[in-house]
Amino acid sequence: MTNAIAGTQLLDGEVVDDPYPFYRRLQAEAPVWEAGGTGVFTVSTFELVAEATGRVDDFSSNLLCLLYRGDDGLPCRLPFSEPDVQVLATADPPVHALHRGTVFPELVAKRMDALAPDIAEIAKRCVRDAIASGTVEFMSTIGNVVPITMISRLIGFQDADPEQLLRAAFDSTAMLGSTLTMDELVARVAHLAEIQAWIAEQLSSAMQEPADDLIGAVARGVDAGVFSEFAANGMLQTLLSAGGESTTSLLGNAVRILAEQPELQQHLRENLDLVPAFVEEAVRLEAPFRFLMRSVPRDTRLGGADIPATSTVLMLWGAANRDGNEFERPDEVDLERRAPRHHLSFGRGIHYCVGAPLARTEARTVLTVLLERTKSITLDPEHAPRWVDSLMVRRHEQLPVRLVAR
Ligand code: HEM
Repeated sequence: MTNAIAGTQLLDGEVVDDPYPFYRRLQAEAPVWEAGGTGVFTVSTFELVAEATGRVDDFSSNLLCLLYRGDDGLPCRLPFSEPDVQVLATADPPVHALHRGTVFPELVAKRMDALAPDIAEIAKRCVRDAIASGTVEFMSTIGNVVPITMISRLIGFQDADPEQLLRAAFDSTAMLGSTLTMDELVARVAHLAEIQAWIAEQLSSAMQEPADDLIGAVARGVDAGVFSEFAANGMLQTLLSAGGESTTSLLGNAVRILAEQPELQQHLRENLDLVPAFVEEAVRLEAPFRFLMRSVPRDTRLGGADIPATSTVLMLWGAANRDGNEFERPDEVDLERRAPRHHLSFGRGIHYCVGAPLARTEARTVLTVLLERTKSITLDPEHAPRWVDSLMVRRHEQLPVRLVAR
């Protein structure tokens, strides 16, 4: 392994904003790279990320720490002591299967396809209002609205305030963003107590009379003794943040790509059946979660590099998706790729995103409505798009666009 790449590169502001040149360098020089002796490693090639997802005994999904930016600009680890934090996405076998088995049937593709008319209705309302304004901030008017509304309905939250849920979803992923200082990170963690208390109340009502929704399924799991109420709360929080945050990123990223490429935009408008292929390309090119973490329970090796026990590994889906050894013209939109879903944005293996069918249905539906109802989508020349300051989340904080009605 080479030490030629400075550890501070990982959290460098320019790299956070545009990580792709850095990813290419990692792939060429150090596919498994340790950020300056911190015990934080990155894995950046498609082959090695795919391999590591399959080695669940060597690369545990247990969340044992959060990352923050140290005074020296290097990533530092804040250990997590709560054992019950290991739920669903952060659980390893055999517990993982119990958690996944509870939520999976609620989110299968067939059920999600049936939601398309509901999604289209919300999308049409948002798009109509946005078009009436002409120039809009896409995220707050459309991109952030649809996913949080749908996940809240699917979970079955009662009397939910979408703004509060969205803030909670963004707070959860901000904890994984790795760019905060330690004080900021600790403040974010403390802030989550509010939503945890609210979810606990929702769960306790659902347990009185479990309905045919996600919270009902989770309540039945608690009742049957499959997992604790505390774990159930964590699962619901995971569903809220994973479902509320990620698809927002995908929608914004897809719309920005369309705004930057008018010919592609027009081609899709005339061939709406290509929208699903475009969704896969958008999610490949800008992985909404650039990485997720793994912890290393025992000394291991990957790609010829030693990774000692207790290390933290960032599986860089965002880098793997643009690996030139796996994808031809990896930085370009290609609507005719032979295997359009052959990317790692939804992970791989036992933790493969359980919400992928919902995300795909939402993205297809919203983009179709948007293309059908507009003549053009362009970036607002006066206000450039802005990214969220996060090493993990690839989402536009602001995406001002001009929409011209058809
Ligand atoms: C574009 C949207 C989305 C992206 C890019 C995305 C990405 C991912 C990724 C990369 C993983 C794998 C995690 C790992 O291996 O550590 C994952 C797992 C997961 N996702 Fe998504 N996700 C999206 C949408 C959703 C939605 C809408 C939901 C909720 C309905 C959701 C819920 C979950 C859950 C619960 C897991 C954990 C599954 C398990 O551990 O078995 N995701 N997601």
